[in-house]
Amino acid sequence: MRIMCGIVAYLGPRPAPPILLEGLRRLEYRGYDSAGCALLEQGELVVCRRVGRVADLERGLSESNLLHSQANQGIAHTRWATHGPPTEANAHPHTDDGGSREAHGIALVHNGIIENHEALRQLLTQRGHVFQGQSDTEVLAHLVGELYEGDLETAVRSALHKVEGAFAIAVISVREPGVLVAARRGSPLLVGVGDKEFVVASDGAAIVSHTSQAFALEDDQLVRCEGTEFRTSTLDNDEVTPHLRELEYDLEQIELGGHPHFMHKEIYEQPEALERSLKGRIDLRRGEVVLGGLADHARQLVQARRVVLLGQGTALHAAMIGAQLIEHWCRIPAEAAYASEFRYRNPVVEEGTVVISVSQSGETADTLGGLREARQRGAFALGVVNVVGSTIARETDAGVHLRVGPEIGVASTKAFLGQVSVLTLIAAWMGRRRHLAPEVLQDVLAELEQMPTRIARVLAQEDRIREIASAVVDRENWLFLGRGLHWPVAMEGALKLKEISYIHAEGMPAAEMKHGPIALIDDGMPVVFVATPGAQYEKVLANIEEVRARGGRVIAIVEEGDTHAASLAEHVLQVPAASEALQPLLTVVPLQLLAYHAAVLRGKDVDKPRNLAKSVTVE
Ligand code: M6R
Repeated sequence: MRIMCGIVAYLGPRPAPPILLEGLRRLEYRGYDSAGCALLEQGELVVCRRVGRVADLERGLSESNLLHSQANQGIAHTRWATHGPPTEANAHPHTDDGGSREAHGIALVHNGIIENHEALRQLLTQRGHVFQGQSDTEVLAHLVGELYEGDLETAVRSALHKVEGAFAIAVISVREPGVLVAARRGSPLLVGVGDKEFVVASDGAAIVSHTSQAFALEDDQLVRCEGTEFRTSTLDNDEVTPHLRELEYDLEQIELGGHPHFMHKEIYEQPEALERSLKGRIDLRRGEVVLGGLADHARQLVQARRVVLLGQGTALHAAMIGAQLIEHWCRIPAEAAYASEFRYRNPVVEEGTVVISVSQSGETADTLGGLREARQRGAFALGVVNVVGSTIARETDAGVHLRVGPEIGVASTKAFLGQVSVLTLIAAWMGRRRHLAPEVLQDVLAELEQMPTRIARVLAQEDRIREIASAVVDRENWLFLGRGLHWPVAMEGALKLKEISYIHAEGMPAAEMKHGPIALIDDGMPVVFVATPGAQYEKVLANIEEVRARGGRVIAIVEEGDTHAASLAEHVLQVPAASEALQPLLTVVPLQLLAYHAAVLRGKDVDKPRNLAKSVTVE
């Protein structure tokens, strides 16, 4: 299930509405279908909810004369429907108000899923609670109300002991002005600590314009903010000391900066993002990779008997590339697996198994679940994560950050590049400590440093890519094919196309085509080949011929100057020459732009594709 609602809560001296609205806007990229906010205004709880965008909520607040309210405490939410359709009744915040029983003016926002909500709903209904909608969160709000005996924090604590599932919540009550309670299990929640104020949010993007000091709540932790003080504790009320850290967000990075969409901006940021990802990690003179995060764990890594790379979606495609490089350079058996499948397959984890969790957000529930399963069975765990301080980053034994900056577009682009670059570095780091000669690595690393400039050359072909997209965008079914390292790239190209343009696309190993999918190829079906030189180049050319013979329209990614491969294709996109191991960093870029332009030409909302969220924090 895909879900990633957004939470923003404020407590402090300033009027809350603009802060809450700005926060929600910064979380819009996560995907949502309704929005709402609750304010404590002059001793009253006021709630405004709207189906649609944050702009609709803003209009709603204005119509209710709440937009300029001086309320200095409030909670707000963007909802991505799971339990019950996107209606005002199901939108958050939910209150404990309903029916004739006494309510306590409690309002609650929630990200996650309360799995036992049906049983709780029945119990509460028997006790006189009346529900307005179908949302599991409404049940939680009523449960807090049911358990309220004069202290909001205690009521929240007791309610959370009764729920099963995942949650990040923020709660206020009219009975306790000046108090904000928030808690988490499974879904991320950050607490921004500013100058006499608090901004609690699902993501640092909603906090950073107010304060750069924040801490992440851990699973089963709760924070109570009151006035200018806060206290963090476990759900069992043992006090814990939070780890305040500097939020690494640059406001410019989370704004569009002249690009039509975040996806476009992030595709263009790739040369710079890759430079940042590589900076200080390559020692050309010694032919070595320098990864501070791994230095203390050389023994576990170098003596690994097996490496399992876990991820989902784009991260899995990067993991597939990482697995091939590790096997090739380190001669250690390596496999990439869907974390969601690995977790439940009763996996064998023997001594010497290293698990690498690959994730942009560091919060993907499936990947986290796979990681926890592997660690519980004794694996040594590495994280390849973008978001510093995220759950996966915290729960791994060691790791290497991507350093590509915040990724806002739902379609992952620069994070893929960062994941491939970091996995390449890890494979080289381990390989060098096993068999790889410094000279071999010297060449690869010198070339890796050239990649940002080469990517810029691919970006310069955007006009040509737009033309190709417009020539084939009317076709509803596409294939993406490649072999070896180009197979995951083909899968990534297909994923990009389907998720933002809603064109049906499949990516697979080119050889697999002949085992069934070839039946699909008819006159005019676009078939995208990654056909750059490498061990299986000739075989890929043969596959192109097979597609041509059946009337498919071949779009080929070829190396600059390769007239032979180019002559076989109807449309050609060129990438600069590179060693095979590094080619994915180049070949994926035209595929990102192809998907982008197909989506724009079809009039789709590129940054907010339907049914999708940036990060998937529930299984
Ligand atoms: O945050 P993660 O990298 O763990 O996310 C995993 C996938 O949900 C993600 O890569 C998804 O497939 C992309 N957004 C697709 O572009």
